Amino acid sequence: MRYYFFSDIHGNMAALKRCTAHIDGNRVDEAYCMGDIVGWLPFGDRTLEYMRSLSLPTVAGNHDLLVAGLFGDHPHQIDRMQASAYNAGLIASIPGASDYLLQLPLAIEKNDLFTVVHHSPFHLPQPGDPLTIQCFNYLDEKAIEGCLFQWQSHPKRLIFSGHDHIPAIYELPDTITTSKIADMIVHRPGLTESFTVRLNPCSRYWIKVGSVGGPYRDGIAVANSAIYDSTEEAVTLYRLKYPTQVLCCELMSNLYFRNIPTIQRYIEMLKERNAIRSDA
Ligand SMILES: [Fe+2]
Repeated sequence: MRYYFFSDIHGNMAALKRCTAHIDGNRVDEAYCMGDIVGWLPFGDRTLEYMRSLSLPTVAGNHDLLVAGLFGDHPHQIDRMQASAYNAGLIASIPGASDYLLQLPLAIEKNDLFTVVHHSPFHLPQPGDPLTIQCFNYLDEKAIEGCLFQWQSHPKRLIFSGHDHIPAIYELPDTITTSKIADMIVHRPGLTESFTVRLNPCSRYWIKVGSVGGPYRDGIAVANSAIYDSTEEAVTLYRLKYPTQVLCCELMSNLYFRNIPTIQRYIEMLKERNAIRSDA
């Protein structure tokens, strides 16, 4: 079986369409979306309607829940709050849009094979506790270190997640009982090439797929995704190029968004990439 994973679309329709074409061309048996359909870019209405029409298994991301109004944001997240408020306005006119986002599950368990989450299976609230933005705090290597013991006893050998927009495969050998991140093996893809890791039967893996639509925290404007081939026992991370010129023009012509620093940096990244391409 071939399983496809993609995450963090953030309103970027060109990147999302690149992923769905990639799914169609790669003998995929099942595809999973790890959330953040909306948020950041000012086109959440398009991606929400398109994703809803695909009816793929999808988990909720923090941006989806912020835009739907389930909880408020950290007070210092000024850029994210502005983008969420704008997108909440966009989807307000779409019947059932907020309900669609709010009914997305926080995790999907695929038999005994893998867990699908937006952020982490170890930071979800206990039954009866509220879901808050703190459940989606940034998941850097220090935060992973804090849940290594839980990960070692997690019933699934594979975890697929998105959230931090940096693709990487974390390998934890079963022989190691550790609380140190240094004992893990981290596999990172190159800048633009696809990258395959053959899975060791004596290790467990946490696959961070990266972002489809950005903002790209590794500075590379490509649509990131992954395929797990359960016959080959291999995971491939993909770095898919897609056309960004129209997206760049649309962002620059949005007078509200051009004042948001995160979006300004995103536009500069797209412009730089487009300049490189036209020189090539
Ligand atoms: Fe995201």
